[in-house]
Amino acid sequence: MTTFTIAPSILSADFARLGEDVEKVLAAGADIIHFDVMDNHYVPNLTFGPMICQALRDYGITAPIDVHLMVKPVNDLIEQFADAGATYISFHPEASEHIDRSLQLIADKGCKAGLVFNPATPLHYLDHVMDRLHHILVMSVNPGFGGQSFIHSTLDKLRLVRQRVRESGRDIRIEIDGGVKVDNIRAIADAGADMFVAGSAIFNQPDYKHVIDQMRKELAA
Ligand code: DX5
Ligand code: ZN
Repeated sequence: MTTFTIAPSILSADFARLGEDVEKVLAAGADIIHFDVMDNHYVPNLTFGPMICQALRDYGITAPIDVHLMVKPVNDLIEQFADAGATYISFHPEASEHIDRSLQLIADKGCKAGLVFNPATPLHYLDHVMDRLHHILVMSVNPGFGGQSFIHSTLDKLRLVRQRVRESGRDIRIEIDGGVKVDNIRAIADAGADMFVAGSAIFNQPDYKHVIDQMRKELAA
């Protein structure tokens, strides 16, 4: 039986009360916390760095923190996020000069590594690195902002990624990120995802538990 992971993106959380909001979403049934790091260079937006990750750990958050690096270059921030308490770290392969080295660095720092694919990033970046991956993150919007609409063609891409994982015989998680809602999560799961990032769908509603329960109900259907 597939294990489904719900990963709220704090990009849509209340930054002025971040610790409380993260506690609240975990109490509402979230499995892990998705952490969108943007540098105003690789993507046209600026969010937060390792200090905020460390602050959440210091506040007492023990859930896995899933760091999604939308930055270029990547290696310095991989080290800093690992030291700040990240659990998973993923980066966009075209933002790294040496993909294998960056993946090795994540593992050396004791974290689990992922590669991220934008809607138009080719999957050949998976060649030769499958043995290094804990997860593959498929972007279903172009990176940079929360609240965008799900790009439907990424369902085909998810199916291709699922096929590659199946053929590899490895237990690699497949994460989807962007425009995930209650009304499309089932179709996304059917296409092959098992980790679901959702920012605005959860944090823009008053009752986080209600949204997460509805998502789980769809996934169980
Ligand atoms: C976009 C980020 C996403 C974003 C998802 O660049 O990687 O994680 O927060 O937000 P929603 O769920 O609102 O599309
Ligand atoms: Zn993300």
